[in-house]
Amino acid sequence: MTDQTFHIVVPQYLHEPGLGMVHAAARVTYWPEDSPMPRERLLEAVKDADGILSHPASRFDREILDHAPRLRVISNIAVGYDNVDVAACTERGIAVCNTPGVLTDATADATLALMLATCRRVVEADRFTRSGQWRYWTPLLMVGQDLTEATLGIVGLGRIGLEVARRARGFRMRILYHNRHRRPDAESELGATYVDLPTLLAESDVVSLHVPATPETRHLIGAAELARMKPTAYLINAARGSIVDQEALVHALREHRIAGAGLDVYDPEPIPPNHPLLALENCVLMPHVGAATLRTRQRMSELAARNVLAVLRGEPPPACVNPEVLQSRL
Ligand code: GLV
Repeated sequence: MTDQTFHIVVPQYLHEPGLGMVHAAARVTYWPEDSPMPRERLLEAVKDADGILSHPASRFDREILDHAPRLRVISNIAVGYDNVDVAACTERGIAVCNTPGVLTDATADATLALMLATCRRVVEADRFTRSGQWRYWTPLLMVGQDLTEATLGIVGLGRIGLEVARRARGFRMRILYHNRHRRPDAESELGATYVDLPTLLAESDVVSLHVPATPETRHLIGAAELARMKPTAYLINAARGSIVDQEALVHALREHRIAGAGLDVYDPEPIPPNHPLLALENCVLMPHVGAATLRTRQRMSELAARNVLAVLRGEPPPACVNPEVLQSRL
């Protein structure tokens, strides 16, 4: 049996080299658009699929699995995998893979971009300059807050949180963190201080979220947590929308109970066009593009392709989130 007998569904545009890798090794059903394959077509396409290169824009749930009796692997082109029903996959012996590591730098860079954009009002200033209202240099125009020497509170000191902390050191920031486990390595490398969440919220000038979306982290930041933050503080979320109670955030921003927010992620996504967040000046909003650099997209495509091909060939994939399903096969 050659690899060509594998059928892999790629239900959205995929960068090289990942696309070439799967084409060279398997029969591929490819949806080359930048928008996801419509659900009805996806349900049809997976009927005899051995693997899917899934993407965060669609849900890969029990309905998909029920239509895919041959499926052995879902390889998500993202580090987060809250769009995949991992428990249902594990029950059926389907491996779920993801792309950790390769997008850490791009996402940390985007986080810093949101911090600078909010603290220094970059987007508001751009809108103002283009509007033609700028008459004079004035001492009160677009006055913001210093990122340099501010206190940064990192919630979730994993790969991305750590890289954010490393960048923040360049701004001579004081670093507090809250994490499931203490990180003595980060404490000695970065002088980071472990604190409980209420202390982090109360003392930070910028709170940056880097935990995965799980039932435990859902609405980790709600009205009570926002109320603990300083009125001069900013909330940054380039992780997942569900971590923040979005309605509570709208209230806090509208009433200036915090200074602002920089968001790359929402709940739901895309954010509805009439959502009140879109009308607020004191937030900077990006459309879930934290990892969107060409080099990172290429690396994600390559890792996702290596994952899907490894599982189908009976080899250990580089990154699997439910490796227990592979035990009996490898
Ligand atoms: C993107 O959001 C990812 O999880 O990789």
